[in-house]
Amino acid sequence: MSEPLLRVEGLTKHFPVRGGWRSPARVRAVDGLDFEVRAGETLGLVGESGCGKTTTGRMLVRLLEPSGGRISFEGRDITHARRAALRPLRQDLQIIFQDPYASLNPRHTVGRIVAMPLQVNGIRPVGGVKQRVAELLELVGLNPEHYNRYPHEFSGGQRQRIGIARALALRPKLIVADEPVSALDVSIQAQVINLLRDLQRELGLGFVFIAHDLAVVRHFCQRVAVMYLGKIVELGDREDIYHRPQHPYTRALLSAIPDIGRLGPTGRIRLRGDVPTPLHPPSGCRFRTRCWKARELCATTEPALVPRDGGRQSTACHFPEEGELG
Ligand SMILES: Nc1ncnc2c1ncn2[C@@H]1O[C@H](COP(=O)(O)OP(=O)(O)OP(=O)(O)O)[C@@H](O)[C@H]1O
Ligand code: SF4
Ligand SMILES: [Mg+2]
Repeated sequence: MSEPLLRVEGLTKHFPVRGGWRSPARVRAVDGLDFEVRAGETLGLVGESGCGKTTTGRMLVRLLEPSGGRISFEGRDITHARRAALRPLRQDLQIIFQDPYASLNPRHTVGRIVAMPLQVNGIRPVGGVKQRVAELLELVGLNPEHYNRYPHEFSGGQRQRIGIARALALRPKLIVADEPVSALDVSIQAQVINLLRDLQRELGLGFVFIAHDLAVVRHFCQRVAVMYLGKIVELGDREDIYHRPQHPYTRALLSAIPDIGRLGPTGRIRLRGDVPTPLHPPSGCRFRTRCWKARELCATTEPALVPRDGGRQSTACHFPEEGELG
C-alpha cells in the first residue's frame, strides 16, 4: 500500500494551567491519537463538546504545537516543522473554521480574503489573481461579481462558502473542516455539506471532517473516528461504524440519531452524567463513569484501540458490543 497522505502517531496536547500548590496542572485535551488519511479519503472525527476535536484539527494544520507524538504528511515528519519548512505545507494543508462570522476579516473585501493565501505564498496564477478568485467564487456557488463586497453583506451559508473558496485557493491535498456547518441554519447545512462533498469528489481532496454528532458525517465520510475525552475509542469504515458499532459510546451516539436510534435493539441510550474534566480523566477506560457495562477491569486497565476479529474496525473496549444495529 502507498504511503498515507497524513499519518498521526501518539498525537498529544496537554495545556498547562494553574494548579494546586504542588505542581502546575495539565488539561489533557488530546492524549495519544493514532490514525491515517489516504489521498482523496474522508475521515470523520466525531465526539461531544470538549473531547479535543478542535485541538486535534489545529495541530494537524500546525496552528498549534503538539506536546507529544508525531504528524507525518506524505511521509515527511512535520510535527515540529519551522516556518520555512511549513511554507510548502501550508499550500497542501488547509483548514475551514467552525464560525464563518469570526473567521473572515470584516474590513476586507471577499476578493481580498480569497486572494490572501495566494498573496501570502507569492503565487501568481495564470490569468491573474482576480481571475483565479472569480473562478473560486464560482466553484463554491457564489457570484464572481460580488468580488468587492464585504462579509457582512452575505448570509452565514454564503460566508462559509467564502471560507471554503479561501481554503481551496492553493489547491490543497487535505482540508481539515472543523464543524463547518454547525454555526449555520439547519436549512442550509445540507447545501454546504453537499457542496463540500461535490468538491471533494471533483478535486480528489482528502478531508478530516470534524463534527459533534454522527448524523452530520454520515453521508460525507468514508471512515469515522469516534473521540471521547482526548482519545479515539473506535475507528472504522462508515459501514461498520453505523451498522456494527462495538464501542458502547459509539452506540450511544448513534442512538441519538432518530432513524438509527429507533431501529437499534437497545433503543435510545441516554448517557448518565456529564463528560468528566480532562484535568482529571478517570483511570482505566475514560468512558467508565458513564458506561452501563463498566466493571472492575475498566477502572484498573486502559483498553487499547485494537482491531477486532482481524477486521479493519478498531475498538478500545474490554467488553465490546456485538451484533448489528437495526
Ligand atoms: N488553550 C487552552 N488552554 C487550556 N485548555 C484548553 C485550551 N484549549 C482547549 N482547552 C481544553 O481542551 C479540551 C478540548 O478542547 P477542544 O476545543 O479541542 O474541544 P472540541 O472537541 O473541539 O469541543 P467543541 O465541540 O466544543 O468545539 C477542552 O476541555 C478545552 O477546555
Ligand atoms: S472498557 Fe469498560 S467502561 Fe470502557 S467502554 Fe468498555 S465496557 Fe465500558
Ligand atoms: Mg471544537
